[in-house]
Amino acid sequence: METRGVVLAGGKGTRLGELTKVTNKHLLPVGPYPMVYHPLKKLVGAGIRDVLLVSGTEHMGDFVELLGSGGSYGCSLTYRVQDEAGGIAQALGLAELFCHGARAVVILGDNIFQASLRPILEIANQRPNDAFIGIKQVPDPGRYGVAELDGDRVLSIEEKPAKPKSDFAVVGIYIYPPDVFQVIKTLKPSARGELEITDVNNHYLRQGRLGSAVLDGYWTDAGTLDSLDYANQLVRDQPPSFD
Ligand code: G1P
Repeated sequence: METRGVVLAGGKGTRLGELTKVTNKHLLPVGPYPMVYHPLKKLVGAGIRDVLLVSGTEHMGDFVELLGSGGSYGCSLTYRVQDEAGGIAQALGLAELFCHGARAVVILGDNIFQASLRPILEIANQRPNDAFIGIKQVPDPGRYGVAELDGDRVLSIEEKPAKPKSDFAVVGIYIYPPDVFQVIKTLKPSARGELEITDVNNHYLRQGRLGSAVLDGYWTDAGTLDSLDYANQLVRDQPPSFD
């Protein structure tokens, strides 16, 4: 099945305070690169050549100026404007025409990780009609989607639970079959007014169509001052693999 990449690079980045007053979070530096290079290079490194970048109106021009056609990065880039931030699942919904029947590998633009995507894609390739998530043990699971596990089986996923049922965060790397866009159309906004990617994942879980794998190497988001600092430290000490 054809595979296409989607990098979600919208949002206001309010958790970064003054750093995102005049720019987009995903343009801030992580190691020697703007943050958005990391997910993009991961996708290209895994052999994905067609990538959609979704962002808001405010800084789309900066992304285009930075990344251009994608040719310098070994891919063909398409850009899609998200008029208003409405959650990760809403942003992914904008990729429907771009994906048209292909499988989507989706990465949140603020996720920084060490390992190659290839092993996860290889596992997911064995189940092309299923969705697939990466999970990772973290010290502060309540900040994330949290997977309740029985051995390596996911029993439930809760978004930012007050009492996490495990310390396994659902990382911002998702692989979806083409029917994900039908699933997104059935979602209702959550208490925080967003279409939640966790609701998409729980839909596949209920259908018995959700696979998962523990991500090797380090992983962090970079959406808060502390995690941005941590991401920079990780990338400086152990540069990630882009192949
Ligand atoms: C989002 C998702 C969450 C996931 C996290 C990974 O959270 O909603 O399930 O664990 O990304 O970075 P957000 O960063 O939007 O709060």
